[in-house]
Amino acid sequence: MARRLRRGETLVLASHNPGKLREIEALLRPHGIGVVSAGALGLPEPEENAPDFTGNARIKALAAATASGKAALSDDSGFCVAALGGAPGVLSARWAGPSKDFAAAMRLVHERVGDNPDRRAWFIAALCLAWPDGHTETFVGRIDGTLAWPPRGDKGFGYDPIFVPAQAAETFGEMEPDTKHAVSHRARAFAQLIAACFA
Ligand code: IMP
Repeated sequence: MARRLRRGETLVLASHNPGKLREIEALLRPHGIGVVSAGALGLPEPEENAPDFTGNARIKALAAATASGKAALSDDSGFCVAALGGAPGVLSARWAGPSKDFAAAMRLVHERVGDNPDRRAWFIAALCLAWPDGHTETFVGRIDGTLAWPPRGDKGFGYDPIFVPAQAAETFGEMEPDTKHAVSHRARAFAQLIAACFA
């Protein structure tokens, strides 16, 4: 039985990524949970040195919960390309470099895939809810699709313009936020989190 979050409790969002914060706030809004970001509290960003999404999500959530004394929620996510053996994966943010240049990161994906006919790609999101006493709950969501080139749409963030989810024609970058939220890796992980941990 998962540990539950009490209604009215304030959750620290252990992310400094504005695109993710926007999506997580929208996903939490209907559940009556107050949110404050780690950035607004001045919490430092811990080093994400785990080899997988769930490990990095735990590092971020535990660091924020311990430093703030409140329950904290983190999202570690990334874009995985079959022709690249799952890369950029946990290095998705790093492929954009210190200036967070995702146009360059998408170009790098395109160049490295080259003319490989395998166009399969997927997003993964690991959510971790951590409490100051060290207890954690972790949930993973995934959405499969294909690579698009050139990039299309400016509604999302990160690698959204080069990803077309299965059974769709638009890229995540072209979709309205609600359409993306209905199927995304983050929404799928959220559905599990809500079912298990929200009263
Ligand atoms: P991290 O979890 O903060 O290490 O970074 C994850 C990176 O994966 C983000 O900076 C994005 O580049 C990428 N990413 C994760 N989720 C999404 C998404 O929903 N759309 C586009 N890119 C994403």
